[in-house]
Amino acid sequence: MNTSDFAELKMFITGPTLIRKEVREAGALPEFGHRDKENDKRCVPIFKNLKKLAGISSNEYELFLINGSGSTCMEASIRSLVRDDETVLNISVGAFGDLYHNISKNNGKRAELLRFPNGRAVELARVREALEKFKPGVLTVTHNETSTGVLNNVMAVCELAREYGVLSVVDGVSIFGGMDIGLAEAKPAMYCTSTQKCLALPAGFGIGFVSRKALEKAETVSVRGHTTDILRQISKSRSHQALTTPNTTLLNQMAVQLDYIINDEGMEARFARYAKMQGMVEQWVEAQDGYELFAQEGYRSPVMTAVRAPEGVSFGTLKNVLKERMRERGYLFDPGYGKLNQELEAAGERSIFRIGHMGDIMPDMLEDYLEELGEELARL
Ligand SMILES: Cc1ncc(COP(=O)(O)O)c(C=O)c1O
Repeated sequence: MNTSDFAELKMFITGPTLIRKEVREAGALPEFGHRDKENDKRCVPIFKNLKKLAGISSNEYELFLINGSGSTCMEASIRSLVRDDETVLNISVGAFGDLYHNISKNNGKRAELLRFPNGRAVELARVREALEKFKPGVLTVTHNETSTGVLNNVMAVCELAREYGVLSVVDGVSIFGGMDIGLAEAKPAMYCTSTQKCLALPAGFGIGFVSRKALEKAETVSVRGHTTDILRQISKSRSHQALTTPNTTLLNQMAVQLDYIINDEGMEARFARYAKMQGMVEQWVEAQDGYELFAQEGYRSPVMTAVRAPEGVSFGTLKNVLKERMRERGYLFDPGYGKLNQELEAAGERSIFRIGHMGDIMPDMLEDYLEELGEELARL
């Protein structure tokens, strides 16, 4: 096979994201047996570093790596934590909050959707009303809504859930590793994430952080599936193993990358880099005539930005013209979440595009990208 025509594009999408050279090379490290002691050499530090990134030092949380991706982990949370005789409240501010609702319904759960308009964050007063109306046993909320660039205040949602005795489950797929997620303070019952976003690794695992409360609750749920059973997952992860055969190439890469994040770049420096890049993008958007930030002020993501295009720049133009022009310049441009743009256009509203500044995108790379993107916007 001729692989020389596989293009190497600089990825400014919202995941998967750019993989550093060292992490690519780590993919060539020796394969190993996942029940052998070689597994520990990779997975003991992987687990330790993931806990550090989540900000947990106590035994209040355990974690597992589940084969699949973020959605697989989300599915496991629903299968393991929602009983058939109770309601799950899915709080959504966009496409990925809707995804949790679909996962809940597709698993036969009694699910209610509390939907906020695209671009807006969760409003606590409406969550309170929904908790009183639906009396759910579990609620789900999206930490970073990747379709709109909204960062929700999950700390406040989890606190409210606790007030009502409701278990909270957070989808942190696109933010884990991108900011201090404050797990120990927010105390959700479960936090789901994955490898291919802010961790700048290939996709392949969902990562689930589970509290003792979640494990106790799972004992009371009757049909949890096999791979979606968090009790089974945890029983293996206690010896730093995956329940089913893991991608050992990815584990090699994860060991190298997490060591780099914690011990070379450092968590604080990484989070500060994202905050800086958020500022760079926001400033750049303000300087583009007719373009606007889409997400509600005060609730904007540090790792990605959604930009509202001016009247006359349709989704078709973003997807078929701008994306291709940026490809010619060596970049993969993100023309926005397709379904959302179709909905916006149908409602006569302006389209959005997204800029991913997650993972190992560096400020100088972003600066070049914004400069070139600005040139192309001026040509539209
Ligand atoms: C916020 C959020 N949740 C869930 C998902 C689904 O994750 P995955 O594609 O890893 O299954 C994504 C993917 O983009 C996401 O951004």
